[in-house]
Amino acid sequence: MLEQSQQREPRQQPVHMEQPASKEPTFSANESARNDAFSGIWTKELNDVFAGIAKYYDTANHVASLGLWNWFKSSFIATIDVRPGDKVLDVCAGTMAVSIALLQKEPNLDVHAVDRSAEMLAVGTRKTKKLGIVITPEISDVHQLPYPDNTFDLVTIQYASRHLQVIDVFTEIERVLVPGGHFYHCDMLRPGNKIVEILYYTYLRACLNFTAFLFRSNPAAQNLKKYFIDALQMFYSAAELTSLLEDIGFKSVRSRSLLFGMIGIHKAMKA
Ligand SMILES: C[S@@+](CC[C@H](N)C(=O)[O-])C[C@H]1O[C@@H](n2cnc3c(N)ncnc32)[C@H](O)[C@@H]1O
Repeated sequence: MLEQSQQREPRQQPVHMEQPASKEPTFSANESARNDAFSGIWTKELNDVFAGIAKYYDTANHVASLGLWNWFKSSFIATIDVRPGDKVLDVCAGTMAVSIALLQKEPNLDVHAVDRSAEMLAVGTRKTKKLGIVITPEISDVHQLPYPDNTFDLVTIQYASRHLQVIDVFTEIERVLVPGGHFYHCDMLRPGNKIVEILYYTYLRACLNFTAFLFRSNPAAQNLKKYFIDALQMFYSAAELTSLLEDIGFKSVRSRSLLFGMIGIHKAMKA
């Protein structure tokens, strides 16, 4: 069950946020800080990483999550309400894990998958051909979605927001949703609890080292091991993400956390 936003933990100010004159937390200040820290990596190295690991991305996820990957994915898919005929956009679709799972849940959907990595989308397209299903791929940076206003009944994004300017991308998602349409978000989040956070980063460091060793990752991936932890440390908790979505204008924001807040699932509606 997703929690109602009214029932969420009290609104917290992210520890890394600057305090503006009004004393109100501003997510735009944190987004600027994230952009200053990571824009170089986001625009170049990260793309090389996904191009290099596309072939074994799905396997690496199973290994790194100690086999929990399918449970995370099915928990996310279970929260998504799809109706026959819905037009769906999977943002940062990668190898199309979410797009394919949605079509398996409801075969009568018009699913579009957008990602800037041709290599990741190509792996996804090969999977759809084997399964005999059709998903329309689009190669594009998602900070400007190549679709008209009010196009999709639902939009999903899984495991990508930490690598994006989220206010810009979520505003774009709101633009392309039809009024009353829903946005479903799933990502690794900053756990609210400090002890969980320390254990989480220790585990992630071990995972990144192990998968890099196991799959002899390309040099770009080796260099970015530190980035993956840094990006998470500067990202949002579930409660902060709820507030950010509400600030953008989404209504009826609900959230659910898995593994003590390490993974967060959000559902939000366009008014
Ligand atoms: C960790 S993968 C997640 C893929 C997929 N959603 C999943 O759940 O398996 C992140 C994806 O985001 C894409 N990505 C990152 N930044 C992007 C951007 N600015 N525009 C479009 N795609 C981007 C990458 O190419 C990659 O395929």
